[in-house]
Amino acid sequence: MRFVILGSGTGSNAEALLKAWDEGKLGKAEPVAILSDKPEARILQLGKPFGVPGIHVEPGPFRTKLSPEGEQAYIEAIRATKADLVVLAGFMRVLKEPFLEAFPNRIINLHPSLLPSFKGLDGIRQAYEYGVKVTGCTVHFVSGELDGGRIIDQKVVPIERTDSLEDLELKVHAAEHELLPQVVRALAEGGLE
Ligand code: GRF
Repeated sequence: MRFVILGSGTGSNAEALLKAWDEGKLGKAEPVAILSDKPEARILQLGKPFGVPGIHVEPGPFRTKLSPEGEQAYIEAIRATKADLVVLAGFMRVLKEPFLEAFPNRIINLHPSLLPSFKGLDGIRQAYEYGVKVTGCTVHFVSGELDGGRIIDQKVVPIERTDSLEDLELKVHAAEHELLPQVVRALAEGGLE
């Protein structure tokens, strides 16, 4: 199963996927490209040592969504990789039709909270400030609704009384780095059904 990663920033989750693949821990799943809307994003550099290309794809003039031309550019770039699965790992733009229709049930997203709680930006901070005692991360199929779509798997992170926000961020990110490779591997094993 070929997969492509879309991200806008640091790419620590892309790194976790590449490392898991390099160590033979992704089963039949194989990363084939990393795409980013930000030409300067660190994520674009991460595939180099693994022979996985990083490609900047122009998103258009909007800040939080793709323009119609941007959408087409992404659809074409993904089709060119012949990917079976699109993994959103910190891609900071909302995806809608026709993008979603181009890859039905083939787009997954990683979110840093236990959905359906704390959707949107800053999921870790939202949970911390609300004062919940457990949070975590979620991988879900992408639907037209922000951070909606069927949940595939989650990982729980307890919040200790002594945790600072920074402590919690480290814990949630560590959980994400375990969860996302597990889900990608499982989807490849299950033939994406
Ligand atoms: C992750 O926390 C993910 O849940 C959210 O964006 C962050 C991306 O981090 N959607 P990174 O770029 O993979 O380090």
